[in-house]
Amino acid sequence: MKNVTRLSGTLIAISFFVVCSAQRKTTDQKVDSVLKLMTLDEKIGQMNQYNGDWEATGPITRDGDKQNQIRKGMLGSMLNVTGVEHTRQLQEIALESRLKIPLLFGQDIIHGYRTIFPIPLAEASSWDTSAIKLSARIAATEAAAAGVHWTFAPMVDIARDPRWGRVMEGAGEDPFLGSAIAAARVKGFQGKGLGNTDAVMACAKHFAAYGAAIGGRDYNSVDMSDRTLWEIYLPPFKAAADAGAATFMNSFNDLNGIPATGNKYLQRDILKGKWNFKGFVVSDWGSIGEMINHGYAKNNYEAALEATTAGSDMDMESRSYINNLSKLVKEGKVKMALIDDAVRRILRKKFEMGLFDDPFKFCNKEREQQQWNNVENLKAEKIVAEKSIVLLRNENHLLPLGKQTKTIALIGPFIKAVRDNLGFWSYQWPDDTARIVTQWQGIQNKLGSNARLLYAKGCEINDSSQSGFAEAIDMARQADVVIMSVGEASDWSGEAKSRSNIHLPGMQEELVKAIYATGKPMVVLINAGRPLIFNWTADHVPAILYTWWLGTKAGDAIADVLFGDYNPSAKLPISFPRAEGQIPIYYSHFHTGRPATSDSDRFYRSAYIDLSIYPQFPFGYGLSYTDFTYSDITLNKPIMKAGQSIRATITVSNTGNYDGEETVQLYIQDVVGSVVRPVKELKGFQKIFLKKGENKQVSFAIDVNELKFYDDQLKYIYEPGDFKIYIGGNSQDVKEASFKLQ
Ligand code: NOJ
Repeated sequence: MKNVTRLSGTLIAISFFVVCSAQRKTTDQKVDSVLKLMTLDEKIGQMNQYNGDWEATGPITRDGDKQNQIRKGMLGSMLNVTGVEHTRQLQEIALESRLKIPLLFGQDIIHGYRTIFPIPLAEASSWDTSAIKLSARIAATEAAAAGVHWTFAPMVDIARDPRWGRVMEGAGEDPFLGSAIAAARVKGFQGKGLGNTDAVMACAKHFAAYGAAIGGRDYNSVDMSDRTLWEIYLPPFKAAADAGAATFMNSFNDLNGIPATGNKYLQRDILKGKWNFKGFVVSDWGSIGEMINHGYAKNNYEAALEATTAGSDMDMESRSYINNLSKLVKEGKVKMALIDDAVRRILRKKFEMGLFDDPFKFCNKEREQQQWNNVENLKAEKIVAEKSIVLLRNENHLLPLGKQTKTIALIGPFIKAVRDNLGFWSYQWPDDTARIVTQWQGIQNKLGSNARLLYAKGCEINDSSQSGFAEAIDMARQADVVIMSVGEASDWSGEAKSRSNIHLPGMQEELVKAIYATGKPMVVLINAGRPLIFNWTADHVPAILYTWWLGTKAGDAIADVLFGDYNPSAKLPISFPRAEGQIPIYYSHFHTGRPATSDSDRFYRSAYIDLSIYPQFPFGYGLSYTDFTYSDITLNKPIMKAGQSIRATITVSNTGNYDGEETVQLYIQDVVGSVVRPVKELKGFQKIFLKKGENKQVSFAIDVNELKFYDDQLKYIYEPGDFKIYIGGNSQDVKEASFKLQ
């Protein structure tokens, strides 16, 4: 193997001296000089991506001769191949091909590689774009050190249906928050820019509207108005493109009858046209071939035609391109210009990543070792995890618990859970058990021998047995305080993990009731990858922390919050329903002609007669151990002219007993429009830290950009008239002011 390396190294040097000798050439010139040397088959090879042999999320086609295909230049990229040794091995084979074009290695680095960070929905709860960027930065650094060039993240799909399992991968329901987070993640992954050895290419996915699968059933159709598409679902993609995302991935769903993979409007007209996106588009796993199942293509030949025409540049795993494109080009059905455009886009990224200069740039054993046990990364993980924990209830200031508490009963199926803490889309490493801090360990680490910790599982996550209740009740009776940890299994959210029933599963809420009946003070931790329904708990249990899945240091982060070393600051990025029948429930809905304004006002109103009009917990909601009070809003003027801005100011005071962080949220409503406008839309937020007793003025500058919307011709406009401004600590509990735009 060594000889091969040396030989291929020499050939590469000669070959690339010839094709792109002058360093002064622009990337596009270099791309063109390679393109000129390529045969049609080699070009199609660049548009082809295969999986390694593991971690598949779809049917794997095992050819047995992948290596040979790489050697023949029939492959541009692989996914699910990591590790310096493995990627080097395959790259060496790529260098045996005629033109020695290096492979790109892609991987789903969704919330960490070696150090697992909170699931994206949890991180979104932090509303802290610097923390989110840092998490992506660390994920990229660790992955790049292990030979990965490209992450299939961020997922920027807006999701308003918690039944959809992939809600855990995104930033929740709101386009404004979603856009800010999309940009932060892209910047985090790509760091100081492609070409640095700690930067991986980002991939904004799934383009587009995948999050609106009908009924929250994964892979389902999407039927949506153009205005909703443009106003709600596209903005995070635009933000990702503007932040420089190197690639996009299209999606499994059809959008209004056209599969996204074969959708020219999305990929050519919007992405590559209107948005002038210069990167490339990879299909989702097998999604080109799946157009046959959609009933949109008769066979892979037609599927390849539809997908290339629509602008899908790389075929992930369906083999439609490699097996059909050559014929399609020869028959004149696919123009060579389309192939050249796709290949140019792919080669450009390979150049930008520096792979032509050094195909083994990401194959540094030492760097891989350094990142493998990076303590600083673990410290950062704990901080991000703390910022992601949402305090939903804290009656009589039960939390934080005193570190001097003598006897604590720890009850529930997640107290000693290990891997669950990582959530879906996380890698399994052989030393996971030693690295992951369980909730049990975290609390032990915090209290040492000061406290007596009792443990009872009480019940399994999802069974019908109450046989463990007696022991749990007994433990609770012996304790000064009870901490219960309940939730859904970590693999109940994620791809293909839609659920029709999102109640706290099994006997868990019964166990909560049984422990509550002991009369002991109790705290409930809820572990989940989506908003769950737990109405009884929400109405009775005095203290509730929504912990989602927090990653490698979950237990330490939870202990910090429980015992007051971190004062919770997170806010929900998605509304929590009271019943599945309330879904979709989101704060920025329209008024309707018969709006229900309260639960006592149901007379021929737009409401369910058997359910509250309110969610269990609204968008933007989350408590702190301290109390924040908001003054009234003052505006620097009552009338704003287009071209000017108006300043809305509010004073926030910390009136409680702890220092704390608050996320001040700005919402705007266009009162009367040429098309109906939502009751309010998030248009700004600021995180402020206030010491106990301190107050601060928070100002938002508003100009017409915050007032624009898509009119009935899909033009992005603003209209003169009345506007309402709302500022508060969540989407429901707000102060109000009005102004006029002239
Ligand atoms: C299918 C998923 O939809 C996508 O998000 C992922 O990146 C690919 N599989 C590759 O694993």
